[in-house]
Amino acid sequence: MSQNIYISTPLYYVNDKPHLGTAYTNIIADIFNRYQKLFGSSSFFITGTDEHGQKCEQTAKDLKIPVQQHCDQMSLTFENTWKALNIEYDLFFRTSFNYHKKSVQTVLQKLYAQGDIYCSKYEGWYCVSEEIFYKKKDLVEGKSPSGQPVTFLKEKAWFFKMSKYQKPLQEHLEINPQFIRPLERQNEIQAFLKKPLQDLCISRPKTRVSWGIEIPFDKDFVTYVWVDALLNYIVGAGYLNREEHFEKYWLNAKKIHFIGKDILITHAVYWSCLLMALKLPLPQTIFSHGWLLNKNLEKMSKSKGSKIDPLKLSKRIGEDELRWFLAKETNLSKDSSISISYMLKKINEQLADNLGNILSRVSNLIDKYFEGDIPSYKKEDSLTKNFQKEKLNLREEKEFLKTLTENQVLKMEGQIREFQLSQALQGVCFILSEINRYLEKKAPWKLIKEDKNQAALVLYNSLEALRICAILIYPVMPKKMLKLLSFLGETPDFKHVKWGRLPLGKKLRKTPILFPRIQKNGGDGRI
Ligand code: MSP
Repeated sequence: MSQNIYISTPLYYVNDKPHLGTAYTNIIADIFNRYQKLFGSSSFFITGTDEHGQKCEQTAKDLKIPVQQHCDQMSLTFENTWKALNIEYDLFFRTSFNYHKKSVQTVLQKLYAQGDIYCSKYEGWYCVSEEIFYKKKDLVEGKSPSGQPVTFLKEKAWFFKMSKYQKPLQEHLEINPQFIRPLERQNEIQAFLKKPLQDLCISRPKTRVSWGIEIPFDKDFVTYVWVDALLNYIVGAGYLNREEHFEKYWLNAKKIHFIGKDILITHAVYWSCLLMALKLPLPQTIFSHGWLLNKNLEKMSKSKGSKIDPLKLSKRIGEDELRWFLAKETNLSKDSSISISYMLKKINEQLADNLGNILSRVSNLIDKYFEGDIPSYKKEDSLTKNFQKEKLNLREEKEFLKTLTENQVLKMEGQIREFQLSQALQGVCFILSEINRYLEKKAPWKLIKEDKNQAALVLYNSLEALRICAILIYPVMPKKMLKLLSFLGETPDFKHVKWGRLPLGKKLRKTPILFPRIQKNGGDGRI
């Protein structure tokens, strides 16, 4: 069913270049967005950079360049990386946009005027690298829960009355058991909300952080970077600037935030409370995926020194292949440890040996015996007595491939809606294996000498199943599937997944080389 869809990723900090962990969120979100478009929805996909705060200011200082220049360079690096990974966003949002700064101030003024923001004192342990305050009870051996250093601070501060929204949020979670996905993360947040919710400190004194959006009613303070960044979700959709767009893609859209599990509380709690205070609808889903782990089973990150450059990796294995691997071989809900040797093994097995093999087998035979035309076969009068039994088998097998693809087509939308990406791709992989098995069994390279009509039928069926599979996995590997589809004279359109569209006798284009086997060259194979 066609509807308006809003899809977002987090805004990435500009204190570091994109790495495979950050690319993971964007690739997954892009794949889901492309599926929505394939299914006929009108979608808006937003990503961008989170540019304010102490960490960014410090990084620019270390590099001895003006902070705005640093932000400009880094956000460009992010944009270029996403483009190279075939990420097709509608808006690249930067928190340094002037209209964003103005909108944040308007929002704060509004919340202040309605009594949701008040002035008090803040005492706590502050973690610079996470830009988060902790209570003593939250510290682990004198450090933040993730092991970062903290310093004790006591200062005047402005607070958002988050506690006021604790009950409405609890009720929202009860009425919407699928608000946070996967289920275990919804449970985590429900458990978190059993304890009294503290009000949120939304200001930072300029004496400590000057790189931020000034609090409109107190010139000595800038806005807490998380409040500034979270508001991108509505400002980017058009809140206070493009009202029609906002109506379409926020007020009347199904909204999905893709985030990693480390930033669940800020989204599920802070963001939901802010939206409630603004009397705006909450997203339908916050999908919080697991982490990519390094070989020591730790989260890949800058601080662990275990980053993988997604551009280097995609140059080595192909950007569509990288997207395929992450979509097919990781469980979005769980953490995934990955290694280069496992990646190569899976890509070679599934893409070179399975999908690629069908294409080269079928196209070679078509070139050799059918002058590069989609094989024509006669439907009725090929049923001669001698071959009757065999032909019935062939018909059954044709029906089998047809039924298999039809079943997967029927399941696809539901699986994507339920975030079962890997399962959906497993279904497609199964069809591909069955096409290969069918080709093995029918051996059209031998059959051609006995009965060209039957060989034509086998090749046609294989090509037709391959065509439908290519449409089904187009959102995962857009570049390569576009090549495959254009070879078949086809376009990526979900309305075209009906069996039998491939026109008999039509000339095929030159066969593309899609998935050459990737060689493993040395090393122990771990990333
Ligand atoms: N700036 C905040 C988000 C503000 S959104 C209003 C932030 N930025 S981040 O750059 O640190 O992280 C962005 C995303 O990258 C998060 O979703 C995080 O989970 C993801 N990842 C970073 N390392 C990761 C892995 N190793 N594995 C999977 N995702 C990880 O947080």
